[in-house]
Amino acid sequence: MESKSMKSKEAGLVDPLDVGRLRIRNRIVFPAYFSRTASEKGEVTPQMIERYSALAEGAGLIVVEQAFVSQDGRSNQNQLDMSRDDKIEGLRKLTDAIHGKGAKAIVQLNHAGRHTTSQVTGQQILAPSPISEKEDAEIPREVSQEDMWRIGDAFSDAAARSLRAGFDSVEVHCAHWYLLSQFLSPLSNRRTDEYGGSIDNRMRFPLEVVRKVVKAIPDTRVFCRLGATDMLDGGLTLEDGLKVAEGLEAAGISVIDVSAGLGGIQPLDPNARVQGFFVPYATAVKKVVKINVIGVGGIKDPLFADSLVKEGRTDLVAVGRAFNANPNWAKEAISILTKPRP
Ligand SMILES: Cc1cc2nc3c(=O)[nH]c(=O)nc-3n(C[C@H](O)[C@H](O)[C@H](O)COP(=O)(O)O)c2cc1C
Repeated sequence: MESKSMKSKEAGLVDPLDVGRLRIRNRIVFPAYFSRTASEKGEVTPQMIERYSALAEGAGLIVVEQAFVSQDGRSNQNQLDMSRDDKIEGLRKLTDAIHGKGAKAIVQLNHAGRHTTSQVTGQQILAPSPISEKEDAEIPREVSQEDMWRIGDAFSDAAARSLRAGFDSVEVHCAHWYLLSQFLSPLSNRRTDEYGGSIDNRMRFPLEVVRKVVKAIPDTRVFCRLGATDMLDGGLTLEDGLKVAEGLEAAGISVIDVSAGLGGIQPLDPNARVQGFFVPYATAVKKVVKINVIGVGGIKDPLFADSLVKEGRTDLVAVGRAFNANPNWAKEAISILTKPRP
């Protein structure tokens, strides 16, 4: 079990959290947020370093945006490449910059599956089943057992590489329409082998990947971003998402970063876009696991974020768009929350 520096009910947003050996100075997380600031070769650029060093002032944890673990899982141009050792030197400049501001740095490891194009990957795209994402999109090739071994190894190699580049840990991306969440969702996984059908089968490959990553970086605490429900008819239900959360804990994950909805940015229903919109899913996950969770969703107000931690609804709070729009968000939140009250 993780040693927690303080029980969530006593702690607030500005209090530190120990995740194993990793001390995070406060509970403010800048979540993975794709910025298109990598070079076309997938390298760190000065612009990217500038961006993350500004965000790192005040934040407890920076999750560096989704990076590809193998060329066939590349989702975009200008996306970070975690598949090659020759990128380590540039990545080291990025982690040094974040650490220089006192924040911890992890990187989100991703395989796009069918949520990309062959133009980006340079080869036929892959998916659990040969079903296109949209009517006019490419038909992917069904992932074979050999592909699964290879992709699992690509994740674990990228995890080991991340540590060599100075990252404190990694986050396995299992949300937002990408490969691992495509395995979880009955909308994209129609397999009839042991990787399709029941939720135990649909989570088999994501858990195999997670076990490989945990094994590759044994003294490190591994994070996983989970899309806890697709929020769509016929998609992954919350009930099944909670089974996945339990599976992730059993597979050695230390923190679950709880997102939802296939796109992951906000609920499709505009009326559901209230502050903290995905936090109820984090709270539901927190009830079935002992490890820490991150809650997210339209959070803007520091007092609201603090109340989420104080009320034990989540252990850490991720602030995406509000923090991206104002890189001083964390500093301002800390100043508001630590101001002596009359
Ligand atoms: C432009 C943009 C890029 C994003 N990129 C990623 C990403 O790389 N990986 C990921 O897991 N989520 C990504 N997200 C989702 C955010 O991490 C976050 O969960 C979501 O925006 C909800 O939080 P917010 O309302 O505070 O922005 C992105 C969101 C936006 C708006």
